[in-house]
Amino acid sequence: MSEILQAIASRRATKHFDPEYQIPEAELTAILEAARHAPTAFNIQNYRFLVVRDREQRRRIRAAAWDQPQVEDCAALIVMCADIKAWEKDPARYWKDAPESVREGYVGMIRSYYEGREQVQRDEGIRSCGLAAYALMMAASAHGLQTCPMDGFDFGQVGEIINLPVDHEIVMFVALGREASSPRPRGGFLPLDAVVQYDCFS
Ligand SMILES: Cc1cc2nc3c(=O)[nH]c(=O)nc-3n(C[C@H](O)[C@H](O)[C@H](O)COP(=O)(O)O)c2cc1C
Repeated sequence: MSEILQAIASRRATKHFDPEYQIPEAELTAILEAARHAPTAFNIQNYRFLVVRDREQRRRIRAAAWDQPQVEDCAALIVMCADIKAWEKDPARYWKDAPESVREGYVGMIRSYYEGREQVQRDEGIRSCGLAAYALMMAASAHGLQTCPMDGFDFGQVGEIINLPVDHEIVMFVALGREASSPRPRGGFLPLDAVVQYDCFS
């Protein structure tokens, strides 16, 4: 099995992190760098990664997250946020390396696709963060680290704690660190034919 398939198959949601483990700066940066290679529609890169390393800040967030210990014991808590208005913030920068004609074409398409479509703007942010979260989790595996995707928290309270901008939305957390214990056995998978259909739903 290739290393990618191995990483996909063996990844688990880590419930107990080693609170003593400190992630080296270079490793954290490499993982975040990998996460931002996740695709976004029109390349608008509307994900924002708020990295919470400060222990006090994580303690405050833990109190808004059903007291889940992963929030405090991980080495870095990544709050995956969507910049809902990224599409209108100087969109030419998303195509800065492309030829001018291509860049101008995309700037026009971005505006006409998102303008006035609030639901699409939000949904797109959720999609982007979901993909980036998984890329981050896979990158963590490649660095021998573990993760826990999380949405068990009060979104409003966490928004206040992190000073979330009004045009951003929190999508989820990814807690990142070194696991302190082996995961429990898996809950179980649905049979493949319960989740896969071909051509149309029967
Ligand atoms: C969107 C999302 C939110 C989750 N929220 C939490 C959470 O708040 N706390 C937690 O311990 N696990 C959380 N999980 C982890 C799931 O419980 C876990 O992924 C699932 O049970 C399957 O287990 P596995 O990832 O180890 O295969 C979340 C997972 C996802 C994808």
